Amino acid sequence: MRDEDGSNFYESSGRVFIKSQAEIETMVQAGRLAAECLEWIVKQVQPGMTTQEIDDLQVDFAKKHDVVAAPLHYRGFPRSICTAVNEVICHGIPSSKQVLKEGDIVGIDVTLLVEGFHGDNATTIPVGEVSESAMKLLEATLEAQRLAVEAVKPGNRLGDIGHAIQSHVEPLGYSVVRDFVGHGTGRGFHEAPQVAHFGEPGRGKRLSPGLVFTIEPMINEGAWEMEILDDGWTAVTIDGKLSAQYEHTLAVTKEGVRVLTVQNDEGRWEPPGRWYPPGYEVP
Ligand code: MF3
Ligand code: CO
Ligand code: CO
Repeated sequence: MRDEDGSNFYESSGRVFIKSQAEIETMVQAGRLAAECLEWIVKQVQPGMTTQEIDDLQVDFAKKHDVVAAPLHYRGFPRSICTAVNEVICHGIPSSKQVLKEGDIVGIDVTLLVEGFHGDNATTIPVGEVSESAMKLLEATLEAQRLAVEAVKPGNRLGDIGHAIQSHVEPLGYSVVRDFVGHGTGRGFHEAPQVAHFGEPGRGKRLSPGLVFTIEPMINEGAWEMEILDDGWTAVTIDGKLSAQYEHTLAVTKEGVRVLTVQNDEGRWEPPGRWYPPGYEVP
């Protein structure tokens, strides 16, 4: 979502909706289906494909499972999925003119609406063989997402999440995008609170059980600044360098955290879309 004026993308005018156990069980179903969808799409991406064909896959999946792709017509967004090729940070619009070529990286962001609740997850994957530097960016971003999820437990604060990301990627020479943040989610696509991907430990809102939100760091090879293309949606890096993103939806529990956009029953962290770089050790 876009953190522009603090209310821009929010349906809930700043109110935090704490979810009941029953609501969380429904969100587990939404999350799992969104995770299955993302994995199913990831397995089919290859050089020569267009980003419109990725959108077509999403439409097929939603139809087959009789669920709604949340991005379609959301605030005027014209497609069912967001794609983000190379220097695109997020909110890229799939197009039949955009052909994926060997060496690209492509971000795929799937949000399904299942029984009234959202499941939101995203990955960035290589198209064929990519440069070593691109693969390093993917690895650092994935690991930052995992570390951020690890920082989620009752009593910790939002700043601990941002700090986990920032302190992992900045020493590697990367930057954290400021203009887009994670978000509460539930019946609303983008609910409060906003979840910054940078911050100071021990600062910000305290995490409590029943809070459901996304963590979706966008990490740039170069500067963090962005601009929006004339289509009004596509956010690109200001210097044209690569950007990567991984996203999960998760719930704070009494014990710690339950990741909702995974395919295991315990809510253990998995790489979104179950893609990870060669050699990456999945815990
Ligand atoms: N799924 C995106 C997110 O992570 C939001 C997409 S909004 C759209 O928050 F309008 F671009 F689809
Ligand atoms: Co999101
Ligand atoms: Co998303």
